[in-house]
Order: sequence, then structure tokens, then C-alpha cells
Amino acid sequence: MKTYTLVSNIKSLKGILASEILLKKGSEMAHLESIDNAYLIIENDTIFSFGKMEDLANATKNITISTQIDAKGGMVLPSFMDSHTHIVFAKWREEEFEMRIKGKSYEEIAAAGGGILNSAKKLQNMSEAELFEQAHERLQQVISQGTGAIEIKSGYGLTVKDEIKMLRVIEQLKQVSLIPIKATFLGAHAIPTEFKQNRQGYIDLILNEMLPNIANEKLADYFDVFCDQGFYTVEETDLLLNAAAKYHLKPKIHANELGYTGGVQVGVKHNALSVDHLEYTGEAEIECLLNSNTMPVGLPNCSFFLGIPYMPARKMIDAGLPVCLASDYNPGSSPNGRMGFVVSLACTQMKITPEEAINATTINGAYAMELSHQYGSITKGKIANLIITKPISSLAFIPYNFGNDCVDRVVINGKQY
Ligand code: NIG
Ligand code: FE
Repeated sequence: MKTYTLVSNIKSLKGILASEILLKKGSEMAHLESIDNAYLIIENDTIFSFGKMEDLANATKNITISTQIDAKGGMVLPSFMDSHTHIVFAKWREEEFEMRIKGKSYEEIAAAGGGILNSAKKLQNMSEAELFEQAHERLQQVISQGTGAIEIKSGYGLTVKDEIKMLRVIEQLKQVSLIPIKATFLGAHAIPTEFKQNRQGYIDLILNEMLPNIANEKLADYFDVFCDQGFYTVEETDLLLNAAAKYHLKPKIHANELGYTGGVQVGVKHNALSVDHLEYTGEAEIECLLNSNTMPVGLPNCSFFLGIPYMPARKMIDAGLPVCLASDYNPGSSPNGRMGFVVSLACTQMKITPEEAINATTINGAYAMELSHQYGSITKGKIANLIITKPISSLAFIPYNFGNDCVDRVVINGKQY
């Protein structure tokens, strides 16, 4: 049976796109197509029609509206598409935060067995059920903050058993989640302490044990490597991505967070769906990305929180590139998954406009999860995952009013959440 939901009194319906547009790049990112004083009708879970409030009577002539949602003068936008998170973890790491305040760097803490290895130790001692419980809570929280699709990585297991445990938790989240989830296998997130003198030993474990088992159980959609200074080299990344390709796992990699390491180039070489972080992006990286289908993903929360440079998003958009932005929600470098704050940092620190920041966190985020045929814009036939804002005077008010929440309500699969 078809049921219809009407969202009425929308001050401005933002992010309207033709169905064939799967991403926005360069100067296209400055435009956020909209209709002021609008309505939107949802058929079951799908966007059915939209237009001006004055045409509503005409639009509802042949259908019966069963549910009404009054936007009360708020704006309606497509939900945020968060294409990079690590929300399955065991414990927060605020003690490292304090060490950094006192002058230790992220890399120094990692080299001393903290950081990712610290998270791994804690996760190895936690049951699948408890990990699920915690991650599910985080998932519900970010949905209420406007996230309408999410990618989640493993990478705090670092043993065959614990990487599989993490991916099973993500699989369980997929089973219960109202929003789409993509799972990424990040066994190559750090070198475990016991393999410090035998890096190849751990890489062999990934190649010969983790990958075949994970592929066999279909536990991952994508494959990730932390290709950076002090973590995995370009050569190791190349080897790992070759192996992943044999299992049809597309790369989405961590690259150029800590230096100009060649991470972007090796990702593009392997036709990565996205290369993420990119705090160190120069002409060579931009040139390489311009000749690819790879989405560059910036993680401004991480720059803010660690005090490292921001991805040069302004320069990249001006060069004609698409730019996507995600939360990187994790206990080490971004202990917060609120996408509204990502949008604020994008404007204040990366100097991109509110329109560009919304495109970066909606349609381009969907592209970075291969979801943009179904999510990421206001398009007839796409799933109705929406944000209804509080009554605000302009789009710019969302990033301007940083740290506050302009999200009033969210709609998931056509229903108020
Ligand atoms: O994206 N940079 C690598 N991985 C994560 C952080 C992991 C951690 O510190 O726990 C990131 O920032
Ligand atoms: Fe990350």
C-alpha cells in the first residue's frame, strides 16, 4: 500500500539535483539549488514530489496525505552523508588528549604504543555484544544530529580474530540500522607492537588470513590502509591494494595526513573510491586527482582537534576538484561525529562557502560511499533522509552558529526519527 507524507511550510528546500548527477566538482559546488516557500511529498520512504507551497493543492489532487510534518519555517536539506568514521571502539582516549595539551604530538604518542595501539588493546578485551551496544548508541546519536548514511571502519582489532569481531559488529549494526552503512576493512591501520620488528609478518597476516576470511564472510565493502609517515609505506600500500583488488574490495584510504607521502598517488593508481585526510596536498596531488574518479575527502575535525593543517579545500575546489567532508568520528583524532560542526570548520577554517560545505557533506559524501544514486540530494525517487532545521534566516546561519544545533528534526526513510 502506498502512503503519503507531506512536509509543509519549508522556508527553503535546499539541495535539489537531477538524478543523473552523482557528484559535484569545482565551480558546481558553489550552487545549492533550492525552492523557497516549499512543500515536499514522500511516497512510503521515497521523495515523490516537491514544489512551491502555492502549488500544493494541485500536487495533492490525486493522492491522500496520511502523515503531515510541519517544517514550521525551517529549511529542509538532504541528510549528511558521513563517509569516514571509526565509531566501533571500546574506550575514549582523553588521557592522550591531555598529553597532547602538554606538548606530545600525535605521532610521538603513537610511536610509544598509545594511539591506535592503545585503542586496539582495549577493544581486544571487549566483547562483541558490548562493542555493539556502544557503537549502536553512537549511531543513534549521529542520526539525530543529521547523519543519514555512514561508513564505519575496522582497524582497532589488529589481530585476525579482533578485526573480524569488529566487522561483525558493523554487520550487526547494518542489520538494525535505519540508515545505510558501508563497512571498511582497515587491518592496515597500525603495526601491532609484537610485529614491530617483523612488519612483513603482520602484512602477511592481513594478506593470507584476514583478507580471505573477511571476503569469504562478505564482511567488508571497502579496503583501507593508513598510508602515512610512521604507518604504512607506499610500497606496502601498493602491495595491499593489489591483494584487495583480487577480492573486489575497492580502496578508500587514509593518506597524506602527516606528510607528502605519495599516498594520494598510490590511491589514485588503484582507482580508490576516495582518498581521505589530505592535510598535505600540493600541486602534484591536485594534478593526480584531477585525472581520476577518486573523491578527495577532508576531515576538518581531525585538523581542529590535533592542531594540524587543514586539507586545502579552497585551493582544490578552485582547481576544479570535487571535495567531500566527513567526521572521522573516532576516540583519537575526532571524538565527535556531529556533521554540523564539520560544516562550520569547513567555512571558518577551509574558507569554503556554506553551499560548498553542504554539497561536500551531502551529494559528495554519498558518492564516496557509492550511494549517490539513492541518497545525498533532494531528487524524485531518492530515499527521503532529510534534515529539518530550526527556523533560521539563511543557510549561512548553520555554520555561523557553530557548535549549536540548527538541526531541529530528522526524517529517515520518510518517517520522522
Ligand atoms: O583517521 N589517522 C588514522 N586513523 C584515525 C585515527 C585513529 C586513532 O587515533 O584512533 C584518523 O584520524
Ligand atoms: Fe580515519
